[in-house]
Amino acid sequence: MAKLYEGKSKICFSTENQNELKVYFKNDVTAFNSLKKATYASKGLLTAKISNLIFKYLQLNGVKTHLIKVIDDQNILVKKLKMFQVEIIIRNIAAGSITKRLGIKEGTRFERPIFELCYKNDEFGDPLINDDHAIILNLTTEEQLVEIKNITLKINSLLQNLFNKLNIKVVDFKIELGLDESNHIILGDEISPDTCRFWDEDNRKLDKDCFREDLDDVTSIYQIILQKLESLNI
Ligand code: ADP
Ligand code: TMP
Ligand code: ASP
Repeated sequence: MAKLYEGKSKICFSTENQNELKVYFKNDVTAFNSLKKATYASKGLLTAKISNLIFKYLQLNGVKTHLIKVIDDQNILVKKLKMFQVEIIIRNIAAGSITKRLGIKEGTRFERPIFELCYKNDEFGDPLINDDHAIILNLTTEEQLVEIKNITLKINSLLQNLFNKLNIKVVDFKIELGLDESNHIILGDEISPDTCRFWDEDNRKLDKDCFREDLDDVTSIYQIILQKLESLNI
């Protein structure tokens, strides 16, 4: 199978079926647009297993996802999508870039979820954009943007329901959506502690901030999330 694309944390391979891809979760972890990098033996297995459980749960609750089949611990078979070149972010509690950009104190809970779009473009550092930018840059249509917001808010509610059961706060997260061959909007990429912020009841960080901020051993932290999710028997 030919390698189609190697990103910072996953590799996409072609398959015999032109509408499907094999995705391999790498053991690399990067931050700040790859300025900081490391590799851990079990990292890919942890993000793959966590993402697969979350995708299974979302799918059971009516969200269309790309996941077709788990091949093994680090490989999945997915529907090949035409990805929107945007990172879609929801923030429930202030952390990360919004605390620096707007001076909001970390830990401030927002009255309503904040929806953000970033243009997926490493050259420009994935800049924050608004709805008009997305439409003018032909990243989405106006109609698609309405649906993207609805899907993302639904995913936010479902993730909060799921993680509430584990006494974990969904602080914020990033998702990527794409179009399948029938032009339906489908959840792609991954949802894992690499792409979300999760805090426990004491606001201990259980996500990639442990790596970004040198707080804790990433794989031990991701293992906690996986064990908790596995206890739910999704
Ligand atoms: P990055 O490109 O940011 O370094 P990754 O290492 O996670 O990120 O690479 C995975 C790439 O695969 C991303 O560009 C993502 O948009 C893309 N992708 C994820 N799911 C699908 C899918 N179902 N179909 C096509 N592309 C996908
Ligand atoms: P931010 O606070 O750095 O803007 O991040 C917001 C959310 O998006 C957080 O959950 C981490 C996630 N994220 C990614 O998944 N990939 C990225 O490249 C960035 C910058 C953030
Ligand atoms: N995903 C980006 C990187 O890998 C930024 C981040 O997550 O902090 O460099």
